[in-house]
Amino acid sequence: MALRDEIDKFKAGLTTSYAPFIDEAQSKGELYIFQPYDMYSEENHEAWRKLFDRMRPRWRRYANEWFMKGIEALSLDPERVPRLEDVNGFLAPLTGFRAKAVSGYVPAFMFFDCLRNREFPTTITIRRSDKLDYLPEPDIFHDISGHVPMHTHRAFADALVRFGDCAHTAAEHVSEIADAHVRAKTLSSIIQAMARFFWFTVEFGLMQSSDGLKVYGSGLLSSFGEIQHAIESPEVQRYPVQLEWLINQSFAIDRYQPLLFYVESFEHLFDLVDELDTWMRQGKLNNVAPGEPQISEQDIQSFLTAGNLANK
Ligand SMILES: [Fe+2]
Repeated sequence: MALRDEIDKFKAGLTTSYAPFIDEAQSKGELYIFQPYDMYSEENHEAWRKLFDRMRPRWRRYANEWFMKGIEALSLDPERVPRLEDVNGFLAPLTGFRAKAVSGYVPAFMFFDCLRNREFPTTITIRRSDKLDYLPEPDIFHDISGHVPMHTHRAFADALVRFGDCAHTAAEHVSEIADAHVRAKTLSSIIQAMARFFWFTVEFGLMQSSDGLKVYGSGLLSSFGEIQHAIESPEVQRYPVQLEWLINQSFAIDRYQPLLFYVESFEHLFDLVDELDTWMRQGKLNNVAPGEPQISEQDIQSFLTAGNLANK
């Protein structure tokens, strides 16, 4: 690559809608990357500053207490996009978790397997500073300020690891199915159940507290509009979590969630993941209700590859 192209790539910043560094990594098939910190433009830092600044009062009001403690424990800088290395310096001694830079979508098995290894696949790009509202794909604000503070809590972190175990259980479970077509269909149902569980807990979960319902789901914690809507709107249905409901419930990602579930505690969340694993072994996830999300061929393949079943 010519020097001029290199310089242009450097100056382009790491914006969700435009990041030549990411395009290059993707074209080379590099999923796990490093964070080229000096590439962040002033506009990127400004986006972080604005996002962090407007969320702070809402976190104080709507977030669960552990999230607020997590934000403090990580010493996130309100002014600058965080360095993953710095974040990990605070996080790893607490629960062993680390943020791991990725270039884009991580196929389902690999994502869950990272959790099992206490690694959290983390997007390094950030949304445009003039477009701060919800975007369907994750960015570093969603991943680092929405997810990672929760990883400072021991029981929450353990629940994620247990979730990673479930992915291994799934790969093992379907390896006993001889017919390739039935195997792929069963796997699709199991991944759908896992995706729904993850969505209604880790991404959009609520928790009971002595001060009413609080937010712990990262999709809510990183959304200025929805965090308030989730707690205040009379239109939102909020129910105690029920495993049989979660795994059969469709959802749409392009609107505020009309249906949310609350847990009692993160120990409660851990027990639910444990039960999910048991249900998987029993075959209860083999035929969950059809609907969203649709499971991609790439996600199914990632489980088959893990179980050495890709071409069988
Ligand atoms: Fe997320």
